[in-house]
Amino acid sequence: MILFVNACVRKNSRTLELARPILAKFPQDEIEEVNLEKEEILPLKRESLDFRSELVSKGNYSNEIFKYAKQFAKAEEIVIATPFWDMSFPAILKIYFENVSVSGLTFYYNEQNEAVGLCKAKKITYVTTAGGKIYYNGGFEYVKGLCKNLFGIQKYEFVAKENLDV
Ligand SMILES: Cc1cc2nc3c(=O)[nH]c(=O)nc-3n(C[C@H](O)[C@H](O)[C@H](O)COP(=O)(O)O)c2cc1C
Repeated sequence: MILFVNACVRKNSRTLELARPILAKFPQDEIEEVNLEKEEILPLKRESLDFRSELVSKGNYSNEIFKYAKQFAKAEEIVIATPFWDMSFPAILKIYFENVSVSGLTFYYNEQNEAVGLCKAKKITYVTTAGGKIYYNGGFEYVKGLCKNLFGIQKYEFVAKENLDV
């Protein structure tokens, strides 16, 4: 399964246009899309965090709230398309990662207190477009930092077009 995480908020998104030929290389029936513009996905707050922590502590992962983490863990390859916002990406993508990052599903800590990834994906392709020049992309750095160190995904490709609003 190829997971397509679509964080393109705007209608006629240029980032989505840039991602299309990349997605076209995969067998289309193997692609599962999470369209964050359409998902009812919420940030973790006190109540939802307590609820989730309680389930995780019992090893009970049957609840619907774990669906993003399960899907992310079993993807063989992942494509993320997201516009460049405020040197990073739209907040919905961070909320998505809060939902994906679940101890026991996408990673765990071993007895030496080291993070061990549980994600199968061999590669993440990060696609973005920017209005100006990309001097620093905190979004890509964050995704790489999280997915490599915690989830165990080793390979990254950064695909970008910049200066599109100049
Ligand atoms: C809320 C918001 C924040 C943005 N922040 C930046 C930025 O920090 N740097 C930049 O170069 N462009 C910025 N832009 C411009 C977008 O990166 C650019 O228009 C991009 O191509 C939008 O992608 P899309 O067509 O997929 O929505 C921002 C645009 C929006 C709407």
